[in-house]
Amino acid sequence: MAGESSQALPATVLITGASRGLGRAMAQQYAAAGWRVIACGRSRTPPIEGNIVPEALDVANPASIPDLARRLNGVAIDVLINNAGIRGDTGGLQTLEPGDFLEVMRINTLAPLLVTRAAAQSCVRQAKNRCQYQQPCRLDRRGHAG
Ligand SMILES: NC(=O)c1ccc[n+]([C@@H]2O[C@H](COP(=O)([O-])OP(=O)(O)OC[C@H]3O[C@@H](n4cnc5c(N)ncnc54)[C@H](OP(=O)(O)O)[C@@H]3O)[C@@H](O)[C@H]2O)c1
Repeated sequence: MAGESSQALPATVLITGASRGLGRAMAQQYAAAGWRVIACGRSRTPPIEGNIVPEALDVANPASIPDLARRLNGVAIDVLINNAGIRGDTGGLQTLEPGDFLEVMRINTLAPLLVTRAAAQSCVRQAKNRCQYQQPCRLDRRGHAG
Protein backbone atom coordinates (compact mmCIF):
# COMPACT_ATOMS: atom_id res chain seq x y z
CA MET A 1 0.00 0.00 0.00
CA ALA A 2 2.94 2.32 0.65
CA GLY A 3 4.18 4.99 -1.72
CA GLU A 4 1.60 4.57 -4.43
CA SER A 5 0.54 7.18 -6.95
CA SER A 6 -2.96 8.57 -6.60
CA GLN A 7 -3.29 8.85 -10.38
CA ALA A 8 -6.14 6.79 -11.77
CA LEU A 9 -7.07 5.61 -8.28
CA PRO A 10 -10.58 6.11 -6.95
CA ALA A 11 -11.08 8.42 -4.00
CA THR A 12 -10.01 6.80 -0.76
CA VAL A 13 -11.75 6.82 2.60
CA LEU A 14 -10.19 5.45 5.78
CA ILE A 15 -12.70 4.31 8.39
CA THR A 16 -11.76 3.16 11.89
CA GLY A 17 -13.98 0.68 13.69
CA ALA A 18 -15.20 -0.72 10.38
CA SER A 19 -15.86 -4.19 11.80
CA ARG A 20 -19.49 -3.54 12.74
CA GLY A 21 -22.11 -0.95 13.50
CA LEU A 22 -21.95 2.48 11.90
CA GLY A 23 -18.36 2.00 10.72
CA ARG A 24 -19.23 -1.13 8.78
CA ALA A 25 -22.35 0.49 7.33
CA MET A 26 -20.31 3.48 6.14
CA ALA A 27 -17.69 1.16 4.65
CA GLN A 28 -20.42 -0.64 2.72
CA GLN A 29 -21.90 2.62 1.46
CA TYR A 30 -18.58 4.13 0.34
CA ALA A 31 -17.60 0.87 -1.37
CA ALA A 32 -20.95 0.70 -3.15
CA ALA A 33 -20.36 4.26 -4.36
CA GLY A 34 -17.07 3.22 -5.95
CA TRP A 35 -14.62 4.46 -3.33
CA ARG A 36 -11.59 2.59 -2.17
CA VAL A 37 -12.19 1.87 1.51
CA ILE A 38 -9.37 1.33 3.98
CA ALA A 39 -11.40 -0.56 6.57
CA CYS A 40 -9.62 -0.54 9.91
CA GLY A 41 -10.58 -2.85 12.73
CA ARG A 42 -9.12 -4.62 15.70
CA SER A 43 -11.29 -7.62 14.95
CA ARG A 44 -11.76 -9.17 11.56
CA THR A 45 -14.12 -7.18 9.37
CA PRO A 46 -16.69 -9.44 7.75
CA PRO A 47 -16.27 -9.33 3.97
CA ILE A 48 -17.66 -6.27 2.22
CA GLU A 49 -18.17 -6.19 -1.51
CA GLY A 50 -16.08 -3.64 -3.38
CA ASN A 51 -12.65 -2.07 -3.24
CA ILE A 52 -11.82 -2.82 0.39
CA VAL A 53 -8.35 -2.70 1.96
CA PRO A 54 -8.59 -4.26 5.43
CA GLU A 55 -6.10 -2.92 7.98
CA ALA A 56 -5.54 -4.03 11.57
CA LEU A 57 -5.94 -1.19 14.03
CA ASP A 58 -6.57 -1.30 17.77
CA VAL A 59 -6.68 2.33 18.80
CA ALA A 60 -6.21 1.34 22.45
CA ASN A 61 -2.88 -0.28 21.67
CA PRO A 62 -0.08 2.35 21.76
CA ALA A 63 1.87 0.51 19.04
CA SER A 64 -1.04 0.00 16.69
CA ILE A 65 -1.46 3.55 15.33
CA PRO A 66 2.24 4.03 14.50
CA ASP A 67 2.14 0.61 12.83
CA LEU A 68 -0.76 1.75 10.68
CA ALA A 69 1.08 5.00 9.91
CA ARG A 70 4.04 3.00 8.61
CA ARG A 71 1.80 0.88 6.42
CA LEU A 72 -0.06 3.93 5.09
CA ASN A 73 3.20 5.58 4.16
CA GLY A 74 2.37 7.62 1.06
CA VAL A 75 -1.27 6.67 0.59
CA ALA A 76 -3.46 9.68 -0.19
CA ILE A 77 -6.55 9.68 2.00
CA ASP A 78 -9.40 11.85 0.78
CA VAL A 79 -11.73 11.29 3.70
CA LEU A 80 -10.94 10.08 7.22
CA ILE A 81 -13.72 8.84 9.49
CA ASN A 82 -12.64 8.42 13.10
CA ASN A 83 -15.50 6.16 14.00
CA ALA A 84 -13.94 3.66 16.43
CA GLY A 85 -15.08 4.37 19.92
CA ILE A 86 -16.58 3.00 23.06
CA ARG A 87 -19.68 4.03 24.92
CA GLY A 88 -17.88 4.11 28.21
CA ASP A 89 -20.25 3.22 31.00
CA THR A 90 -18.26 5.13 33.57
CA GLY A 91 -21.15 5.51 35.98
CA GLY A 92 -22.31 8.65 37.65
CA LEU A 93 -20.34 11.20 39.60
CA GLN A 94 -20.36 9.10 42.76
CA THR A 95 -19.27 5.85 41.12
CA LEU A 96 -16.91 7.17 38.47
CA GLU A 97 -13.67 5.19 38.25
CA PRO A 98 -10.84 7.47 37.09
CA GLY A 99 -9.16 4.60 35.25
CA ASP A 100 -12.33 3.84 33.27
CA PHE A 101 -12.80 7.51 32.46
CA LEU A 102 -9.23 7.86 31.23
CA GLU A 103 -9.64 4.79 29.02
CA VAL A 104 -12.68 6.39 27.38
CA MET A 105 -10.73 9.61 26.86
CA ARG A 106 -7.82 7.68 25.39
CA ILE A 107 -9.98 5.79 22.89
CA ASN A 108 -12.56 8.46 22.04
CA THR A 109 -10.43 11.62 22.04
CA LEU A 110 -6.68 10.97 21.97
CA ALA A 111 -6.76 8.08 19.49
CA PRO A 112 -8.68 10.05 16.82
CA LEU A 113 -6.03 12.78 17.03
CA LEU A 114 -3.24 10.25 16.57
CA VAL A 115 -5.05 8.52 13.69
CA THR A 116 -5.61 11.92 12.06
CA ARG A 117 -1.92 12.71 12.40
CA ALA A 118 -0.99 9.37 10.82
CA ALA A 119 -3.35 10.00 7.90
CA ALA A 120 -2.09 13.56 7.43
CA GLN A 121 1.53 12.42 7.44
CA SER A 122 0.71 9.85 4.78
CA CYS A 123 -0.95 12.52 2.62
CA VAL A 124 2.03 14.86 3.00
CA ARG A 125 4.36 12.08 1.96
CA GLN A 126 2.16 11.27 -1.01
CA ALA A 127 2.13 14.96 -2.05
CA LYS A 128 5.91 15.12 -1.79
CA ASN A 129 6.23 12.01 -3.96
CA ARG A 130 3.93 13.57 -6.54
CA CYS A 131 6.00 16.75 -6.53
CA GLN A 132 8.99 14.80 -7.71
CA TYR A 133 7.16 13.94 -10.92
CA GLN A 134 4.52 16.57 -11.54
CA GLN A 135 4.42 20.30 -12.03
CA PRO A 136 3.15 22.58 -10.75
CA CYS A 137 2.97 21.53 -7.15
CA ARG A 138 4.63 23.19 -4.22
CA LEU A 139 4.90 22.39 -0.55
CA ASP A 140 5.32 25.03 2.08
CA ARG A 141 7.77 24.54 4.92
CA ARG A 142 5.23 22.52 6.91
CA GLY A 143 4.73 20.15 4.00
CA HIS A 144 1.34 21.48 2.90
CA ALA A 145 0.70 21.16 -0.80
CA GLY A 146 -0.07 24.47 -2.49
N1 LIG B 1 -24.87 4.37 17.75
C1 LIG B 1 -25.12 5.52 18.36
O1 LIG B 1 -26.29 5.87 18.62
C2 LIG B 1 -24.00 6.46 18.71
C3 LIG B 1 -24.27 7.65 19.38
C4 LIG B 1 -23.23 8.52 19.67
C5 LIG B 1 -21.94 8.19 19.32
N2 LIG B 1 -21.69 7.01 18.71
C6 LIG B 1 -20.32 6.70 18.35
O2 LIG B 1 -20.24 6.34 16.97
C7 LIG B 1 -19.27 5.31 16.82
C8 LIG B 1 -19.91 4.09 16.18
O3 LIG B 1 -21.03 3.71 16.93
P1 LIG B 1 -21.66 2.26 16.79
O4 LIG B 1 -23.02 2.31 17.37
O5 LIG B 1 -21.48 1.75 15.41
O6 LIG B 1 -20.70 1.45 17.81
P2 LIG B 1 -20.38 -0.10 17.90
O7 LIG B 1 -21.39 -0.92 17.18
O8 LIG B 1 -20.12 -0.37 19.34
O9 LIG B 1 -19.01 -0.23 17.08
C9 LIG B 1 -17.88 0.39 17.57
C10 LIG B 1 -16.75 0.15 16.60
O10 LIG B 1 -15.59 0.70 17.21
C11 LIG B 1 -14.60 -0.31 17.26
N3 LIG B 1 -13.70 -0.16 18.38
C12 LIG B 1 -13.97 -0.11 19.70
N4 LIG B 1 -12.86 -0.03 20.41
C13 LIG B 1 -11.85 -0.08 19.51
C14 LIG B 1 -10.45 -0.07 19.61
N5 LIG B 1 -9.82 -0.03 20.81
N6 LIG B 1 -9.70 -0.11 18.49
C15 LIG B 1 -10.30 -0.18 17.28
N7 LIG B 1 -11.63 -0.22 17.11
C16 LIG B 1 -12.39 -0.17 18.22
C17 LIG B 1 -15.36 -1.62 17.34
O11 LIG B 1 -14.50 -2.66 16.95
P3 LIG B 1 -14.64 -4.17 17.53
O12 LIG B 1 -15.61 -4.86 16.61
O13 LIG B 1 -13.26 -4.72 17.42
O14 LIG B 1 -15.13 -4.07 18.95
C18 LIG B 1 -16.48 -1.33 16.38
O15 LIG B 1 -16.08 -1.55 15.05
C19 LIG B 1 -18.69 5.01 18.19
O16 LIG B 1 -17.51 5.77 18.37
C20 LIG B 1 -19.79 5.49 19.12
O17 LIG B 1 -19.26 5.87 20.38
C21 LIG B 1 -22.68 6.15 18.39
